[in-house]
Amino acid sequence: MQDIIPAISAVAGYVPDYIMTNHELEKMVDTNDEWIRTRTGIKERRVLKGEGKGTSVMATEVLKQLLEKRNIEAKDIDAVIIATVTPDYLFPTTANIVANNVGAVNAFSYDLTAACSGFLFALETGANFIKSGKYKYIAVIGADKMSSIVNYKDRNTCILFGDGAGGVLLEASENEYGIKDSILRSDGSGGDYLYMKGGGSVNPPSHETVDNDMHYLFQDGKTVFKFAVTKMADVSVEIMNRNNLTGDDIAYLVPHQANKRIIDATANRMGIGDEKVTMNIDKYGNTTAATIPLCLWEWENKFKKGDNIILAAFGGGFTWGAVYLQWAY
Ligand code: COA
Repeated sequence: MQDIIPAISAVAGYVPDYIMTNHELEKMVDTNDEWIRTRTGIKERRVLKGEGKGTSVMATEVLKQLLEKRNIEAKDIDAVIIATVTPDYLFPTTANIVANNVGAVNAFSYDLTAACSGFLFALETGANFIKSGKYKYIAVIGADKMSSIVNYKDRNTCILFGDGAGGVLLEASENEYGIKDSILRSDGSGGDYLYMKGGGSVNPPSHETVDNDMHYLFQDGKTVFKFAVTKMADVSVEIMNRNNLTGDDIAYLVPHQANKRIIDATANRMGIGDEKVTMNIDKYGNTTAATIPLCLWEWENKFKKGDNIILAAFGGGFTWGAVYLQWAY
């Protein structure tokens, strides 16, 4: 029997309507539009407004779109995997909520956490479910409501993040194209540079954790930047080398959108020009697990069957990785 090649058969994305511009942030912290644009490439980001609205609101829209685009019913879905660091609750999982919202009654569903690399870790997981031959349709979604853990009094971090969700449907390829290779890595010694101190079992929520801003994301930006620049490029070049690909062979790099300078450095190391790099950080900022699927969604019409595409990410943990795929439709 021939090996099953897992392939992306549909992509979807959702961003909330509310646009938070750099100028709005100027009124909240001591920053300015020029600094933010030149240091990060970000002009604006989206924020999910409304009482009681969590990450599942955005992820549900994504899953509905995936079903519509592929023209399948919710009951046909075998699994829903959601990568997120901002789940609606610690449990039940956001994926449980989303699957229920669309009526995916035959799906098992769970969340997976690998911060900004979450989508790639979930994609590898879903792809292997397809490869096993046991499942037909797996939905892999990256979704984060970063505004729920960002401190809008901290200029070092609040300018960077936004809310959004994106996802893909995975199934067995009908041709020779699909997900071909992946390299995923983690290094827990980087944990202290990008994390949320409070809310887990070490520092459960209390008056003290709230008073000490421990429920906000903390980042040592300089250190994270240094690791991200090196590791994201290393792994992207490694996956190219082991698949005998040169810059000329690559149709697109779809990188995690954390900082335009990190993306430029990665593309440079890979030997590819700007025209081959998907970039929407200017509009959405860093939406954590959602950046890569949001790029796939916005570039879907440009991709051609058989295009060699590299996905690459770096994030808290530390976690990082790259996926090599050939666009299948
Ligand atoms: N507006 C104006 N000034 C700011 C600012 C803001 N929003 N944020 C920080 N600054 C100041 C700093 O306080 C510092 O001032 P000082 O020199 O007087 O102390 C100065 O700008 C330079 O700060 P620095 O940290 O060196 O800037 P940077 O060039 O490293 O850029 C980041 C900061 C956060 C944009 C950058 O480090 C980064 O992108 N890091 C990685 C982020 C990332 O990838 N995170 C997610 C991983 S998935």
